[in-house]
Amino acid sequence: MTGPGEGTPLLEISGLRVELPHRSAGMVPAVDGVDLHVGRGEVLGVAGESGSGKTMTALATLGLLPHGARTSGSIRLAGRDLLGLPARQLRDVRGKEVAMVAQDPRTALHPMLTVERQLTEHLRHHHGVGRRAARAEAEELLDQVRIPDPGKALARYPHEFSGGMRQRIAIASALAGRPELLIADEPTTALDVTVQAGILRLLDRLRRERGLAVLIITHDLGVLSSLADRLVVMYAGRVVETGTTAEVLTAARHPYTRGLLDALPEGGTATMRPIPGSPPALGAVPAGCPFHPRCAHARESCRQQVPPLLEIGPARESACPVDPYAPVPLQEVR
Ligand SMILES: Nc1ncnc2c1ncn2[C@@H]1O[C@H](COP(=O)(O)OP(=O)(O)OP(=O)(O)O)[C@@H](O)[C@H]1O
Ligand SMILES: [Mg+2]
Repeated sequence: MTGPGEGTPLLEISGLRVELPHRSAGMVPAVDGVDLHVGRGEVLGVAGESGSGKTMTALATLGLLPHGARTSGSIRLAGRDLLGLPARQLRDVRGKEVAMVAQDPRTALHPMLTVERQLTEHLRHHHGVGRRAARAEAEELLDQVRIPDPGKALARYPHEFSGGMRQRIAIASALAGRPELLIADEPTTALDVTVQAGILRLLDRLRRERGLAVLIITHDLGVLSSLADRLVVMYAGRVVETGTTAEVLTAARHPYTRGLLDALPEGGTATMRPIPGSPPALGAVPAGCPFHPRCAHARESCRQQVPPLLEIGPARESACPVDPYAPVPLQEVR
């Protein structure tokens, strides 16, 4: 028997580079050589501060990058390269094989269409499900995302719901095409804590029951602790650390990941220590390790060369050549 994530990955991104047009600096990389993979039924968490390239990585996967963006590298879904796919075929992949819950909830639902239309369209057109069966499935999905009175909700329009409810309907609508992979970009950021916990439980259930694979993006590592199997930490368009969720959360190796963890509120008490400074703007990424100006452990070499992502254990990588957290050998202490 194979567990989640084993075998050929469902999604495999290699050497992805996304360049965006910049006002004064020409084309500048927002994503710079990203490698990541998501297995069938696996939940991969992608974390990092604002501007680290998380959304651009997701949008590149769906072929939805802003106008003028340039991509290179490869993005394979079940072995098929999406970057080389004609627009029409990519549209078929979207919704049917991969669906996305967008970071901006305003773009997720069509304001002029009823909830029923938005939730049944994919089932009817991509999966050939009849109207009544599609309606029943849509009702079931609304119930799963805890929309009260799903039968009535189907006849209503998005503006008739609160922001939190709209976000849950957007998640239902992404799941309505029965995708194999759901890309959820900050799906719970706008929601209150109890609704957030409900959504995370729903995603976990769908993974167990349907084998849904999830790529979940957030700047909050805490959100990922209960849901994600593995984590990818990004900074300035690059991957800086990867590993199982437990390993990354309990034994982070990269000073940036440590910084993110130290910034988390622990059990509600105010022990949060934010990372000093802020991430670089597009086109202003410093030479060497992009994190070095904010890093307490930076050495001269960190200012010169971009440290590669190195394997530091099974399925475990870090882009920091020094291990500032290694226990000091006893003889050195004496
Ligand atoms: N439409 C756009 N045109 C030009 N630059 C953009 C555009 N959207 C984002 N960027 C820039 O691309 C870089 C990566 O942005 P991206 O949205 O992927 O970051 P992110 O990790 O998703 O951050 P956040 O946590 O704020 O959502 C940032 O420097 C951002 O300013
Ligand atoms: Mg984003």
